[in-house]
Amino acid sequence: MKKILVTGASGFVGSRVVAGMKDGFELLTPSHGAFDITSASSVDEYIKRHRPEAILHLAAISNTWYCQQHPDESYRINVRGVENIAGAAARHGAKFVFFSSDQVYNGNCENGPLSEDIAVAPENHYGCHKLQAEDRAMQLCEDCVVLRATWMYDIPREGMPTHNNFVTNMRSAIEQQVPLAFATREYRGITSIDEVVRNIPHTFALPGGVYNFGAENRLNTYETASAYFDMLQCGIEKEKIVVPDYDRFPEHERNISISMKKATEASGGVIRFSDTLTGLRLFAEHHFL
Ligand SMILES: NC(=O)c1ccc[n+]([C@@H]2O[C@H](COP(=O)([O-])OP(=O)(O)OC[C@H]3O[C@@H](n4cnc5c(N)ncnc54)[C@H](OP(=O)(O)O)[C@@H]3O)[C@@H](O)[C@H]2O)c1
Repeated sequence: MKKILVTGASGFVGSRVVAGMKDGFELLTPSHGAFDITSASSVDEYIKRHRPEAILHLAAISNTWYCQQHPDESYRINVRGVENIAGAAARHGAKFVFFSSDQVYNGNCENGPLSEDIAVAPENHYGCHKLQAEDRAMQLCEDCVVLRATWMYDIPREGMPTHNNFVTNMRSAIEQQVPLAFATREYRGITSIDEVVRNIPHTFALPGGVYNFGAENRLNTYETASAYFDMLQCGIEKEKIVVPDYDRFPEHERNISISMKKATEASGGVIRFSDTLTGLRLFAEHHFL
């Protein structure tokens, strides 16, 4: 597929996707002002007029805390916005690929890497709305590919927005020599945006369905941070920066760590991510060491 509409192209993921894919694809990247996903009619008109072969839907409110404070806005953009695009994709014959989140697993109590077929019951608005959006997208557009992405990281880059992420948080803590607490009772994958961008073109060939999409991780978040800090060899005592938080998630361990088996098998082994620690090591070697 060559002609691809990327929504949310100015965002953290979108700006990096555009930079990484612009040479191999004809990318349509309308701004929020020119293409408001909450307007069903303008979404339909745009897609009808431009006829993309595929739509990579990244536009969203991605801030979990903000969604919790503004549930109506979160629903309008993260659920209704997805419905508008999924419906238009089905009507105009475009492959629809949409970024959901590993936060759909945030109410689960199972251990180990989670697969897509387990029952989920997210605990916050962001996770609930992502799950509702997944269901609606699959109803409206059965060939739709839903990608449950993990927390992603990158260094700050000119002209591209950067959210607080695992790598930038650690760098700031080291530079300012302030301690950062990491939960010992949390398990999650953390993924390099470079690996996400590299894998995205292969998602257009996936059969319709829900897929985890990012790095696996068997370590808890404190162990992950501790190992990453060691890699950076910054000459500061680790205990001054990386502090275990034993109290967070007292009810049950928080496990949102994913299994990548389904997407890797469905793509014939093409879609692959390094595990979280390997990804962090490769990223550190490339950027910092
Ligand atoms: N970042 C992560 O670590 C992470 C982890 C898991 C899943 N995800 C998911 O991945 C996707 C991309 O996330 P991101 O981090 O790139 O988000 P982001 O940086 O917050 O970017 C969101 C994009 O959506 C656009 N947008 C917001 N409301 C819109 C509307 N009504 N109509 C059209 N465009 C609108 C924004 O444009 P303006 O800025 O101009 O408003 C921006 O380009 C999201 O679905 C997010 O939930 C992200």
